[in-house]
Amino acid sequence: MKFLSPLTLAPIALGTFLASLVAAFLALPALSAAPIVLTGADRRPSISLDGEWGSIVDPYFSGLFSFHHQERADGWFLNQKAKPGDSFPTEYDFSQASKLKVPADWNTQRESLLYYEGPVWYERDFTYQPQVHTRVFLHVGAANYRSWFWVNGQKACEHEGGYTSFNCEITFAVHAGNNFVVAAVDNTRREDGIPTLETDWWNYGGLTRSVSLIEVPEAFIDQYDLHLSRDEKSVIEDWVHVEGGQPGASVEIKIPQLGAKTTAMVSENGRAVIHISVNHLERWSPETPRLYKVRISAGQDALDDLIGFRTVETRGTEILLNGKPIFLRGISIHAEAPYRTGRANTDKDAETLLGWAKELGCNFVRLAHYPHDESMLRAADRMGLLVWSENPVYWALQFDNPKVLAKAEQQLDEEIGTSRNHAAIILWSMANETPSTEARTRFIETLASRARSLDSSRLITAALLVRSEGDTKIVDDSLGQALDVIGVNEYIGWYEKNPEVADRTQWRIDYQKPLIVSEFGGDAKAGLHGGDKDRWTEEYQANIYRHQLGMLNRIAPLRGMSPWILMDFRSPRRPLAGIQDEFNRKGLISDQGQKKQAFAILQKAYKDKTVGRSE
Ligand code: GCU
Repeated sequence: MKFLSPLTLAPIALGTFLASLVAAFLALPALSAAPIVLTGADRRPSISLDGEWGSIVDPYFSGLFSFHHQERADGWFLNQKAKPGDSFPTEYDFSQASKLKVPADWNTQRESLLYYEGPVWYERDFTYQPQVHTRVFLHVGAANYRSWFWVNGQKACEHEGGYTSFNCEITFAVHAGNNFVVAAVDNTRREDGIPTLETDWWNYGGLTRSVSLIEVPEAFIDQYDLHLSRDEKSVIEDWVHVEGGQPGASVEIKIPQLGAKTTAMVSENGRAVIHISVNHLERWSPETPRLYKVRISAGQDALDDLIGFRTVETRGTEILLNGKPIFLRGISIHAEAPYRTGRANTDKDAETLLGWAKELGCNFVRLAHYPHDESMLRAADRMGLLVWSENPVYWALQFDNPKVLAKAEQQLDEEIGTSRNHAAIILWSMANETPSTEARTRFIETLASRARSLDSSRLITAALLVRSEGDTKIVDDSLGQALDVIGVNEYIGWYEKNPEVADRTQWRIDYQKPLIVSEFGGDAKAGLHGGDKDRWTEEYQANIYRHQLGMLNRIAPLRGMSPWILMDFRSPRRPLAGIQDEFNRKGLISDQGQKKQAFAILQKAYKDKTVGRSE
């Protein structure tokens, strides 16, 4: 359709056209603000928008861009309906469109979308009754990768990053009665994206985590950080920030089960500093994952969170949990849903995955390679599993591009801002397998110091590549200087040499810091059997594990491990027919729950505590 300039159209048509332009102009916002971060959003009462949404797959993004690639004022965000006598064709109708479930990726909902990378539109009607002195936010658990949101045709916000939650203010756009929200989500991979073009996991697109409406008073608690002091015994500290809070206003913290209560004053920067001495606190640990109900209130606003209190720090090559050396018996996990596959996002998914980790004898999980869902972190808090949380700075980003650094900082702010009160999280990982270049090191050092300024109560790590000289593994990546704990990935017996080589492999580690072997392993098709020299068989994978466990015990500063990986997961890089079928098969369990031989080998080592030393 060639679209001529309005001036050539007949007067009536011109009128209609101008009318829709005016409507679109009126729809133009009160300047849609940047999304905000909310701590404990899942603990707030909310109006769920989960369920079936109308959806339109729009590979050319013609719902937002004109044929000259200009952003349209009359885009599909207006959710217009064709009317009899229209002089202008309306070529979309969400009410007639096929449905997509939210929260979920679109790839596993429709065969035709399994490989789809591009824009998809979503629409949902909802009824709402605005309250006086109340602000309302559209809470998005996650939208992969870039997303735009409009309410009643008015732009609410846009966001980049597929694995962190964000909140868009829509107070200006909602009205009493029927309302509608339109979202455009585009999972196109981008060179300047985070992650960038190459990943070894499926690029599941869509509104992959819950969407809801959250109402708060005009002044409300947006972020808070409450943790056990490392320095002062039995003191819970840090701060509560009140958005729109007046200096001098008061914040109250109550922990009924500890008989503890304190009030603090909001200062110029909106923060109230918290310092509470408590008695008889049962510290959170894998053995005793004790959570306390904590009521935080400020003015008209209040919320109850469930928080565990523990300390974590390093001493030389030791990791100390609650002051005691600990060895992290772990496993790596992707947010792949067990059995149904697709992006994991339910409590059940979390309980199944973490249940298997517990069955394996783990006290630790590496949630790779992006921030996982709050349901996963809540389950880890409940089940007593320590967590390595990672931002998707994965492989070779554009490390010399300041815009990319800004995106990484935004994603880090969202990750830490949202999840900072989970006792389970002990490690913030800044990156995975990045090339050892100066630009990369500067980039990650900047991120690491930002993470420290956002949260001084946890440890900073990253998964480094390791170089080899003969049968010696050398850990000397300069990035190690910026880390509290060194993570290393190695694949002796799979990508390099054969499993037995591990028996004679030496390790030279140029850091006096705790070390975690954050990845090792090999692919095996569940149920495929043969000799332990036959790749892809369970026996071969088991053989890798046997030899690895022996080697790991010879690495002096080893204080943890998270083999790759708990469960097979979908990956576009794994096409081997009849074996991988687009799944990375390094799981100890198949995506259909079949345990492979190596599961029992690692389980025995963890149960008998024959691998690793805490000091
Ligand atoms: C890498 C990477 C993983 C990947 C794994 C593999 O080390 O970090 O994301 O899946 O190796 O090759 O199986």
